[in-house]
Amino acid sequence: MAASSRIGQPLKVATRVLLPRSRPVFTTQTPSLQRRAISTYGYTQAKALVFSKYGEPQDVLSLHGHSISPAAGTNVVVRMLVAPINPADINQIQGVYPSKPNMSTALGTSEPSAVAGNEGVAEVISTGSGVKSLSKGDWVIMKHVSQGTWRTHMDIDESRLIKIDNKEGLTPLQVGTVSVNPCTAYRMLLDSAKWSFRGDEWFIQNGANSGVGRAAIQLGREWGFKSINVIRGREDKDEEQKLRQELLDIGATKVITEEELQSREIRDQIKEWTNGGREEVKVGLNCVGGKPATALAKFLSPGATMVTYGAMSKQPVILPASLLIFKEISFNGFWVSKWSDRHPDQKKQTVEDVLKLTREGKFKDIPVQECNWGWKTDAETLKKAVQGTLGGFRAGKGVFVFEET
Ligand SMILES: NC(=O)c1ccc[n+]([C@@H]2O[C@H](COP(=O)([O-])OP(=O)(O)OC[C@H]3O[C@@H](n4cnc5c(N)ncnc54)[C@H](OP(=O)(O)O)[C@@H]3O)[C@@H](O)[C@H]2O)c1
Repeated sequence: MAASSRIGQPLKVATRVLLPRSRPVFTTQTPSLQRRAISTYGYTQAKALVFSKYGEPQDVLSLHGHSISPAAGTNVVVRMLVAPINPADINQIQGVYPSKPNMSTALGTSEPSAVAGNEGVAEVISTGSGVKSLSKGDWVIMKHVSQGTWRTHMDIDESRLIKIDNKEGLTPLQVGTVSVNPCTAYRMLLDSAKWSFRGDEWFIQNGANSGVGRAAIQLGREWGFKSINVIRGREDKDEEQKLRQELLDIGATKVITEEELQSREIRDQIKEWTNGGREEVKVGLNCVGGKPATALAKFLSPGATMVTYGAMSKQPVILPASLLIFKEISFNGFWVSKWSDRHPDQKKQTVEDVLKLTREGKFKDIPVQECNWGWKTDAETLKKAVQGTLGGFRAGKGVFVFEET
C-alpha cells in the first residue's frame, strides 16, 4: 500500500481524535407503546424486503414478516440500524448485476426468496454460546455482498461480519455507508497510480456528485490530489451552482458540467489549471460511460490510468486508439465486491481509515433522503424509496433508517 508524506497518510496514522459519543435516537414511540421485538422465549420478530423473481423493485419486492430463533452456536442476531439504497442493489433486484443472491425458503417465504440490499450497519442484540469475536451492543457491517440488509433483523454467522472496533463519535449513517462507496473511491484512487503526494497531481472524474465521487473528492483533498469534477448540468442554474459549491466545499479543486467538458474551450482551461500540463492528470474515474467517458479520457496525461466502475448512462465506453497507442493510457475496471472478497483484511483497514477521517471531521456525510422503517411502515413506503433511486438528479441517496422495533 502506498504511504503518503505530510499531506495525508493513508492507513498509517497513529493518532485518533475522539469526539463525544453520538448514539442514534430512533425511537419515536413511548416505551410502553412499543412492541416487544423479543418474545418471552427469545424469538425476535423481524421484517424483510424480499424478492423471489427479478424485475423492477416496485413489481417484485414484498415485505415479509417472520420470527428469528435465539442465537445459537457461532451465530448472532443483529438489529439493522441503517441500510443505504445503492444503484447496485437495484441492478441486483433487476437481475442485471453479476452477483446473484441465494434464493431460499429459510425465512418461511412461500417461494424461494432473497432479502434485498447489500450494505448497512447493524447492532448485535444477542450472541450464540460459540461466538468469540462479538458481544451484545457491538456495531457490525457485512463482510460480503448479497447478505440482504433491507430487513429489521438478521440471524448470521459471526464470520460473515466485520466488527467496528471503535464506534465512538460515529453515527449509524456514517458507518452504514462506509463499506461500498468510500472503499471504492479509496482503492481506485490510491491503487491506480504511483503518487508522489507532493500536492501537484490531479485526477478527473465524472459522476462527481455521486457517493463515490464525493468520497474521491474528500480522500483526494486529504492526500493532496487536485481534482477536476464533472457533473451533469441542471436546468435550474441556481441549483447547479449550489451543487458546484457543495463539491467545492468538500474539497473539489474544479467543478465542470458534462457540457463544459465537451466544449472547445475546456482544453486550454485544463492546460492552464495544470500549469501547462506539467502537473499530471494521473487517474480518471468513470461511472458514466458513453460520450462523457470518451471526453474525460482525452484529458488524462500520458501513462495515466482510467478506471471504469459504473455505467450510469448505460452506454458503452468508446476510446480513441491513439490514447492506448501513443499516450499509453491504461483502461481498467474496479469492482469493490471482488476486491473485498480478495482482500478482507485490507477492507477492514480501509473502512477503519475512512471512519478515522470521519471522526476527525475530514470526511463529511453524503446528502441522504431518509426513509424511516418502523414496525408499522408499510411495503409501499419502502418500495417507493427504493424505486426513487432509479431517477437521476436526486437531492441525496436513499437510506433506510431503522426504528427500534
Ligand atoms: N464498481 C464498484 O465497485 C462500485 C462501487 C460503488 C458504486 N459503483 C457504481 O458507481 C456509480 C455511482 O454509485 P453511487 O452509489 O455513488 O451513486 P449515487 O450516490 O446513488 O449517485 C448516482 C450518480 O449517478 C448519476 N447518474 C444517474 N443517472 C445518470 C445517467 N443516466 N447518466 C449519467 N449519470 C447519471 C447521478 O448524477 P445526477 O445527480 O446528475 O443524476 C449521480 O452522480 C453507480 O454506477 C454504481 O453502480 C460501483
